[in-house]
Amino acid sequence: MAMVVIEDVSELRRCLVPWRRSNRPIALVPTMGNLHAGHLALVREARRIADCTLVSIFVNPMQFGPDEDFGSYPRTLERDRELLETEGTDLLFAPSVQAIYPHGSQGRTRVEVPGLSDILCGTSRPGHFSGVATVVCKLFNMAQPDIAVFGEKDFQQLLVIRRMVEDLCLPVEVRGLATVREPDGLAMSSRNGYLSLQERARAPALYRALCRASDHLHKGLTADEVEAMGVEDLAAAGLRPDYFSVRRASDLQPATTGDQDLVVLTAAYLGAARLIDNLRVSR
Ligand code: PAJ
Repeated sequence: MAMVVIEDVSELRRCLVPWRRSNRPIALVPTMGNLHAGHLALVREARRIADCTLVSIFVNPMQFGPDEDFGSYPRTLERDRELLETEGTDLLFAPSVQAIYPHGSQGRTRVEVPGLSDILCGTSRPGHFSGVATVVCKLFNMAQPDIAVFGEKDFQQLLVIRRMVEDLCLPVEVRGLATVREPDGLAMSSRNGYLSLQERARAPALYRALCRASDHLHKGLTADEVEAMGVEDLAAAGLRPDYFSVRRASDLQPATTGDQDLVVLTAAYLGAARLIDNLRVSR
């Protein structure tokens, strides 16, 4: 069946009625578009686990800071539409800012997830995770999906959403999917498009530093030692590290000696791009 493209909320609700009436599970994949193989892996997973695959494309102004790239974020709707159609997506929801925030987002209801939102990426991007949680909560309420699929590439975001779902008792099952990488290890991201050829050649240093950190943790180095070496690795490769941190995977609190399920998370600036990546480590 041809993919249906929807722009407003009431139409979205109308289109979902037949799926819901016949008890066919709906899976939502929220995105900001400019789709790459990482996004498409989520769409494939949605197709595998549900009957109705709904993808949203919305560049959410509320999650961008005033000096960030909301204006220049790549918008490639026509190409995205074709890719999603090829993947067998049932519904594409591509609303305007007006449809999602008819009264603007300033001074309106927002979702805050304390504890998880003000650390790591939240430190350099104040308000970012509140913007993410708010728009994802709105999308959940608009579509009422049974399942929602997210990437582990944005590990902190995934945990923020899981926490929100738990705390607000939202009836959605959240699935996390492994990061899809380029052959040289660089995590796929829309923001990789900001890199010059020279910067692109340096970018895999991020993943290499994470792999080295994982080796060092397995060898018994402390979190402090591993973090210091990670920052050095990134700087030596010509990246400007924002953070390089070893955390407990369950709640992103600093890792202590007894913790076994860890995640190493990093963010670094490279030219016009701010790149993030992470790697799970069990010890
Ligand atoms: P966006 O960056 O477009 O990412 C949409 C989804 O794709 C997220 O769940 C993200 O983790 C996942 N993703 C991105 N790169 C990936 C990769 N290389 N491998 C696997 N999954 C990957 O994340 C957002 O949009 C927004 O914050 C959103 C959740 C849509 C809210 O506005």
